[in-house]
Amino acid sequence: MFGLLYRALVFILPAYVANGAPVVIGRLLGDGHPIDFGKNFFDGRRVLGDGKTIEGFVGGVLAGIVVATVLEEWGLHSLFGGSVLSIGALLGDMVGSFIKRRLGYKRGDPIFLLDQLDFLLGALGLYWLVFDDIEVEIFVLLVLITPILHIATNVGAYYLGLKKVPW
Ligand code: CTP
Ligand code: MG
Repeated sequence: MFGLLYRALVFILPAYVANGAPVVIGRLLGDGHPIDFGKNFFDGRRVLGDGKTIEGFVGGVLAGIVVATVLEEWGLHSLFGGSVLSIGALLGDMVGSFIKRRLGYKRGDPIFLLDQLDFLLGALGLYWLVFDDIEVEIFVLLVLITPILHIATNVGAYYLGLKKVPW
């Protein structure tokens, strides 16, 4: 059990870092440039909103790639696999925001499970598209533990002053 948990966490670590880094980058660099260029969708609402920035996307992917590089160095991951997970994480996060905006939720409004799983499903989905190979046990375990870890780290980030809201 713990062997599986360890393997799952090492595997997904680049995606976790890629997803968390934009919060830190946003605090360091200030508000970045929105990926949707501030544009509205056909429904009159923002395509993605101000929470999805070019700086956050690029910085998040780079942070995930740095982690993947170290993990490959240690023989624990592949750089390419970790990079795919990182890009997938940021893409999934964007899809999540797109869905939130279509449902009328404003930037930062919480939607339980969508907020916690969008990046994970993006990461695993892109990884699966590229490699066609994910262990079912790892997939299921990550879907179960990621919401818990995500909420715990966000509460931590809130108390560290990194986030304005604890979700
Ligand atoms: N962030 C960013 N660029 C991204 C992703 C995240 O700059 N591509 C930063 C933003 O500062 C964002 C923060 O990370 O506010 C937290 O990300 P997230 O919770 O995904 O965004 P929310 O602000 O909650 O917006 P949304 O309602 O669209 O999820
Ligand atoms: Mg959020």
